Amino acid sequence: MFPQTPGPIGLFDSGYGGLTIFDKIHQLMPGYDYVYLGDNARSPYGTRSFEVVYQFTRQAVSRLFESGCQLVILACNTASAKALRTIQQKDLPTWDPNRRVLGVIRPTVELVDTISRTKHIGIVGTSGTITSNSYTIEIGRMYPHIQVTGEACPMWVPLVENNEFNSPGADYFVKKHIDHLLSVDPQIDTLILGCTHYPLLMDKIRAFLPSGITLFSQGEHVAESLRDYLGRHPEMDRKLTKGGSCRFLTTESAEKFSEAASIFMNTPVSVSQIEL
Ligand code: DGL
Repeated sequence: MFPQTPGPIGLFDSGYGGLTIFDKIHQLMPGYDYVYLGDNARSPYGTRSFEVVYQFTRQAVSRLFESGCQLVILACNTASAKALRTIQQKDLPTWDPNRRVLGVIRPTVELVDTISRTKHIGIVGTSGTITSNSYTIEIGRMYPHIQVTGEACPMWVPLVENNEFNSPGADYFVKKHIDHLLSVDPQIDTLILGCTHYPLLMDKIRAFLPSGITLFSQGEHVAESLRDYLGRHPEMDRKLTKGGSCRFLTTESAEKFSEAASIFMNTPVSVSQIEL
């Protein structure tokens, strides 16, 4: 059903957010070929149901496999929270058991215990990620002594997707959620950005976060975890092509996406518009 020849690494996000992950992966491993797919036309995913996020993510992963990808990273917390497990358990065995789909939640939480002193951690994410409790469950499995408090920030992704991340509106919504989270658990000393769009709001988040609280952005950890994974799985590494190319696919305007992606890549990039 899908091409069996070696191919690129695929990355998927509902829109631009996954570029914050892709940027770090590409910096760490520039030699591989990559295809990034942003479903900008249907973003945000954060307020959609489990079933819809699963169906949209499934379509995107299938499209990346059709493009020759052997390995796909869901560079989206909402998709990792709501669709990863079903795709791994239900779809991959029938599509092709040798292909792999990995998410961003586990690599993000692996290090939290070494970072937090108070063992009180806050997570900001989309409504979908927070209500799925995926971070609480994953951290609870690895570090049962850590207290986790989640805060859904439904306005933060639309601020980023609409290029409003430096506006007074962003000040209002960032402050509102930081203040609320810290009123629920004032002992929090580590804040995980559990949404790939949020690093774009980093300056605002830092401005409203009391000093002494560590901001934990996931890009570097996901990139290092992928490099470790490929080191431990040479059979997968052999199936990845290493030509140093990056292609971008979007379900919205290629021109608009190209502007955003060029900033991340520091160079003009090739973008094609597709339908899922
Ligand atoms: N960037 C995605 C995440 O990490 C979701 C954004 C959205 O709501 O579409 O959760």
